[in-house]
Amino acid sequence: MFDFDRVIDRRGTHASKWDVAPRVSGIDTPDMIPMWVADMDFAAPPGVTQALQAEVSLATHGYYADTGSWAAALSDWVARRHGWRVDPAWASPTPGVVSGLGLVLQAVSAPGDEVVVFPPAYHAFRRIIVANERHILDAQLVETDGRYRMDLDALREKLTPRTKVVFFCSPHNPGGTVWSVDEIRALAKFCEEHNLILVSDEIHCDLLLGDAKHTPTIAAAPEIADRLITCIAATKTFNLAGAHVGACVTSNAELKRRIDARIAASGLSSYNRFGMIATEAAWRTGEAWLEALLRYLTAARDFFDARIEAAAPGARSMRLDATYLGWVDFSGTGLPPEEVAARIKTRARIFVSPGTQFGPGGETWQRFNFATPRPILVEALDRLDDAFADLRA
Ligand SMILES: Cc1ncc(COP(=O)(O)O)c(C=O)c1O
Repeated sequence: MFDFDRVIDRRGTHASKWDVAPRVSGIDTPDMIPMWVADMDFAAPPGVTQALQAEVSLATHGYYADTGSWAAALSDWVARRHGWRVDPAWASPTPGVVSGLGLVLQAVSAPGDEVVVFPPAYHAFRRIIVANERHILDAQLVETDGRYRMDLDALREKLTPRTKVVFFCSPHNPGGTVWSVDEIRALAKFCEEHNLILVSDEIHCDLLLGDAKHTPTIAAAPEIADRLITCIAATKTFNLAGAHVGACVTSNAELKRRIDARIAASGLSSYNRFGMIATEAAWRTGEAWLEALLRYLTAARDFFDARIEAAAPGARSMRLDATYLGWVDFSGTGLPPEEVAARIKTRARIFVSPGTQFGPGGETWQRFNFATPRPILVEALDRLDDAFADLRA
């Protein structure tokens, strides 16, 4: 019903993943394969295309009237998929999740304050903290039994009176960690004890592989609702990153008022019409597409893990429970990280996200976006086979 194997030529279509890659990667051959930024090479759900086609046919694209239908669609979606009851009045749309994180920082902290991040962690966390003149407080994740865990005792030792906010990524990027209820509860308790605002970025919450199950932070720890802001979006789930719409959700009316004040101060209280239409349509019509996608991505994960570990003996792909961002540690190959990166870039002509981008703990890792049609994924893995062939000799 949905053809995820179909190769769509995205080159020359303002696709950041394909059209920016040659410049930033330095790979200038026409056969470069981009496996970096987190978007997928698949067509959007048909319901999204129909909604946008209707908009194009109408041909009037004036200011968007927020009738509340968007937040209602969000609320219906998270209730159905995650059992989370969101009052639509708790949601403040923002132009994407990262901009929402910046607005939240401005609303709840001051320049010079510290924001906790659990590295290796999504690189834009670091960027937005620094751009807002706050400081990063790294709480190193620890890898045990093939997955990441938070070390809250170590973090406790590092807190200072300037530590005000925690950026929690659930599921985690990179590594695809789906946090357990107990882990989330422990973090929530920690935030309560140390008077920290918890920002839970759940943009990857729908991208669950196999039988993994996501628990929203609010569902695991409803008692901290007053210090919790959840950031969500339809854009990662339905491959609409260019729509650039997300939402900050909090049931604390005072916190919401402060976030809305920052949104108003930046002139962002009127929303992008195309983004709102596309994402509402996705939540309302995209469920069957998503189910099919998750089956496709689960098979792609298994294929990717087996092939990359066979290609480079000693390489280890962390088993993802969520996301489509393969996270591979090359330290066991015996090759220095620069040599691994050089082989992927020049021998395989593949552009990946270097592990160093994700902060401490990423030094020997590379992140591969495998959300691409199978023919492209096979070609990429064939090339990686060649790039590391001498290790198998
Ligand atoms: C954890 C996380 N948050 C946010 C984003 C991006 O959000 P947006 O494009 O809505 O700013 C990403 C993209 O990969 C992500 O991994």
